[in-house]
Amino acid sequence: MEEKIEKLKAQAAEAIKNAAGNLSELDDIRVRFLGKKGEFTTILRGMGAIAKEDRPKVGKIVNEAKAEIANLIHQKNEELKAREMQNRLASEKIDVTLPGRQQPLGHLHPLTLTLERIKDIFFRMGFSVEEGPEIEKDYYNFEALNLPKDHPARDMQDSFYITEDILMRSQTSPVQARTMQKNEPNAPIRMIAPGRVYRRDEYDATHSPMFTQVEGLVIDEGITFADLKGTLELFLRQIFSEDVKVRLRPSFFPFTEPSTEVDISCVMCHGKGCKVCKGTGWLEILGAGMVHPHVLEMSGYDPKKASGFAFGMGVERIAMLSYGVDDLRLFYDNDMRFLRQF
Ligand code: DAH
Repeated sequence: MEEKIEKLKAQAAEAIKNAAGNLSELDDIRVRFLGKKGEFTTILRGMGAIAKEDRPKVGKIVNEAKAEIANLIHQKNEELKAREMQNRLASEKIDVTLPGRQQPLGHLHPLTLTLERIKDIFFRMGFSVEEGPEIEKDYYNFEALNLPKDHPARDMQDSFYITEDILMRSQTSPVQARTMQKNEPNAPIRMIAPGRVYRRDEYDATHSPMFTQVEGLVIDEGITFADLKGTLELFLRQIFSEDVKVRLRPSFFPFTEPSTEVDISCVMCHGKGCKVCKGTGWLEILGAGMVHPHVLEMSGYDPKKASGFAFGMGVERIAMLSYGVDDLRLFYDNDMRFLRQF
């Protein structure tokens, strides 16, 4: 019997020593030798067959052997756990000195930046922002602006028609009539209306079938051409530079009388004449005029009580001149090499 126990002990020790793999293998060994149905338990169960006087001795040897094996298992267990930890440390090692992953930060588009600057200047002069739909009624886009159906000036702004009476707006001017009509008759107005407009134009360095305009409208008692000139000069000096020169040329717009084209001295050559200003020293920058009495009347204003001026400008053109961009398409092509520069 003692021999059998010794042999079992040796077997267990060998098995434990060889349990190189993992903790579960070691647990199998524990169950096999020490478990409820394990080899040593079987011996203890069979004590009945042993002579009574030998029982305490055999019991002692078995218990000692069990304790020894449990100890070996414990040691091995510690060893395997330590090795497993070592392996994990090695495989999960990270280099904390590596630079982190940068999250690129976006920024506003140059056209948005330009529009923000324009709005800011007019906010400081007490203007509010009005909005109108991009899909517009022919009535607001043309008729309420003194351009009846067969008016030849419509040809300058051929747009995209959705039906006979609905089109993609060709200018932001329809917001003028919309604002006047939503107001109490003759109520003062000081507003700008920024937004996209659409025309049947080519897509080239200076044209696009979609572009951005800012409309302006001021109406009150006693508004004169001097107010128009003063307001626009102040705006142009702030958006370009303090020393920019402003020139007004007579022009025609159906919704204003008189009408004027507003030029600034060339921002590239300061009036000397260059490629950008085609040698003239001047750049055409916006259209403006005194609101036509008929336009006031059509939208419920009395030309004897109220007068006003209006203006319209292209945001792309202002952005091109401010940033020195020579191709309008760059604003729409979404080339990161271009956009990152702002
Ligand atoms: N709507 C005109 C255009 O797109 C620009 C314009 C000119 C607007 C004169 C105005 C204005 O309000 O008074 O060509």
